[in-house]
Formats: sequence, C-alpha cells, structure tokens
Amino acid sequence: MRFENKVAIVTGSGNGIGKEVAKRLAKEGASVVITDINPANCKYTEEEIVESGGNALSIPADVSKKEDVMNVVQEALNVFGKIDILVNNAGIVKDSKITEMTEEDWDNVVDICLKGSFLFAKYTAEHMIEQSYGKIVNIASRAYLGNPGQANYSSAKSGVLGLTKSLAKELGKFNITVNAVAPGLIETNALKEHPKYERIKELQKKDTPIQRIGLPEDVANAVLFFASNESSYISGDVLHVTGGRFG
Ligand SMILES: NC(=O)c1ccc[n+]([C@@H]2O[C@H](COP(=O)([O-])OP(=O)(O)OC[C@H]3O[C@@H](n4cnc5c(N)ncnc54)[C@H](O)[C@@H]3O)[C@@H](O)[C@H]2O)c1
Repeated sequence: MRFENKVAIVTGSGNGIGKEVAKRLAKEGASVVITDINPANCKYTEEEIVESGGNALSIPADVSKKEDVMNVVQEALNVFGKIDILVNNAGIVKDSKITEMTEEDWDNVVDICLKGSFLFAKYTAEHMIEQSYGKIVNIASRAYLGNPGQANYSSAKSGVLGLTKSLAKELGKFNITVNAVAPGLIETNALKEHPKYERIKELQKKDTPIQRIGLPEDVANAVLFFASNESSYISGDVLHVTGGRFG
C-alpha cells in the first residue's frame, strides 16, 4: 500500500493508460480523482474502483480549458483536503503529413497534450508548494524522438519533456519531484479497434528488442514508481517504456 493517505489526480483516466494508472493507484491505497473529457467513461472508472473497494471521485473536464482544470483542483481539495500526486496523462493524436496538417489539428494536439499538462501542473503546484510535497508525472511518448505524420504530436510530447525538466528545477526546493514516462506503442482499446491492429502488432514485435507490444500495466508500473517515495531523489528524468525500442 505505497499510496495510503495519498490523493492523486489522473487526467484522461476514463480509458486506456490513464484508467489503468488510476486503478493501480487506488489498489495501493490512494484516493483518486478521475478526470476525463468523456463524462460516462469518467463515471465507469470511478464505479470500477469503488466496486473493488477503492476510493475514487469522477470530475469530468477538458484539460485544455483553464476553468475546467481549476474546478477539478478545487473540487479535489474540497473533497479530499489535499493533492499529493498529479498524473498528466490525457492526450490525443491527429496524424497527417505536414502539408496536409491543418492549424486546428496542430492546435488541438498541442492544447491537449502540452497546455493541459501546464494548466494542471500550475494549479496543483500552488497547493503542493504549500504542503511541501508533490509528485508530478507527465506522460510523454517515444514519439518525442520524431515520427513521420506526427509533427504536432511529436512537438507536443517534446514540449512535455521541456515542461518536466523546467518544473523539476523550479519545484525541487519544495520537495516536489517532476518526471516523465515515454511509452512506445501500447495496446489500448483504441488500438485494438484500429483496422490494421494485427499488422501493427506484428510490426511492433519485429522492431522491438523485447518482442511484444506494450501493455497499460507496463506504463502504470513506471508511473507508480515516479508517484511513490521510492523515486524521492529522482527528478527531471524520463523513463522509456518502449521494450528497448528507441528509433
Ligand atoms: N497508447 C499508446 O500507444 C501511447 C504511446 C505513447 C504515449 N501515449 C500517451 O499516453 C496517454 C494516454 O493515451 P492512451 O493510449 O491511453 O489513449 P486513450 O485514447 O485510450 O485515452 C486517452 C483519454 O484521454 C481523454 N481525453 C482526450 N482529450 C481530452 C481532454 N481534452 N481532456 C480530458 N481528457 C481527454 C480521452 O477521453 C481518453 O479517455 C496519452 O498522453 C498518449 O499520448 C500513448
């Protein structure tokens, strides 16, 4: 029970990696604020956690909207009295060649992947500074290394690493660690519904030293390490959960 008496916010936890992270934090004792743009999925995650004996509260929100973010932080403080852990997980892709990428596709991806992480870090840091304790874990992506068709996503995820390293330097003196996890391809529901799912899985296996696709549990293991006191002397770092694949 590494997270007994801890309060965590996990963004984008209505589905995929965020949901797995929220469930695992709750299983190890944390009270978890489930926040997602999809209110129904937000509620499902809350119900799943509560049904299995955990403590969770769902608050739907769009991470790219300042008012929504402020509301989640305020509600979390009203209900649980503190925030110890923030996992900035919400993210989207809108892939296309640069010549076909619209300004809207660029703005959406950057707003959700990068600005959303900034907003949640900003409003939770105020409280973490006051209590002299905090763990911020940002979900980046192996795509920060560059991927054709993902100029928006790669740029946003590189930005997430810049945000991580700057905040680590700024907030360390308040006993707040800030780290990032960079997953490779992870088998989520969204991927399973992809028409080329089997082919993608096969290629991934071929190109990855650990010859399998990543699982949400693999990412959750890394996130929980950074969210726990086991990583209290690690900040500004990036853990790659890519099965050894870097290219
Ligand atoms: N799945 C992968 O292969 C993979 C690889 C590397 C990095 N990542 C990153 O992991 C994170 C989670 O991805 P996933 O694969 O679980 O995706 P997912 O689509 O399964 O889940 C993302 C969740 O974020 C929510 N969301 C989307 N826009 C939002 C917004 N504006 N405000 C609040 N919530 C919003 C969605 O409703 C969804 O529940 C993302 O940051 C993604 O970039 C995923």
